Amino acid sequence: MGPGCARVVKLLRVVNLSRERPVGLNRAQAGIGPMKIVMAIIKPFKLEEVRDALTAIGVHGLTVTEVKGYGRQKGHTEIYRGAEYAVSFLPKIKIEVAVASDQVDKTIDAITSAAKTGQIGDGKIFVINLDHAVRIRTGEADAAAL
Ligand SMILES: Nc1ncnc2c1ncn2[C@@H]1O[C@H](COP(=O)(O)OP(=O)(O)OP(=O)(O)O)[C@@H](O)[C@H]1O
Ligand SMILES: [Mg+2]
Repeated sequence: MGPGCARVVKLLRVVNLSRERPVGLNRAQAGIGPMKIVMAIIKPFKLEEVRDALTAIGVHGLTVTEVKGYGRQKGHTEIYRGAEYAVSFLPKIKIEVAVASDQVDKTIDAITSAAKTGQIGDGKIFVINLDHAVRIRTGEADAAAL
């Protein structure tokens, strides 16, 4: 491929990008590109701290659900000589936040530092692909709707 050809390819790329999104906005800001749902299971008493941490990084909405679950200890604080006790469900809070993909790391960091006690049962964070989002009132889509 000669230098002329490379220039054409570059030009095409520029033309393409400018068609895809308004100048000055990144893909996420322009509502283009993938989003994620960050789902966190946390200790109930950590909810306010986590919410404050998310607000501080500019997360504008979240969904909270009271759930029950268990992790490795199966809901118990000790496993006696490795014997398995019956599983017991412990109350937890599930938080779901839809964010542009470029906000995922920040979101995970905020949740982790706010929810961590260092004790067992601190919870988990799962990241799930999100295809589409719509703000019902305005019809705005994807990252613009978050
Ligand atoms: N693999 C999993 N799938 C779905 N939910 C899970 C899973 N593991 C944990 N959870 C949820 O997260 C909650 C907290 O889990 P927990 O923090 O106890 O995990 P863990 O692996 O036992 O870690 P730790 O050893 O720090 O306690 C559980 O009560 C459950 O609701
Ligand atoms: Mg556990």
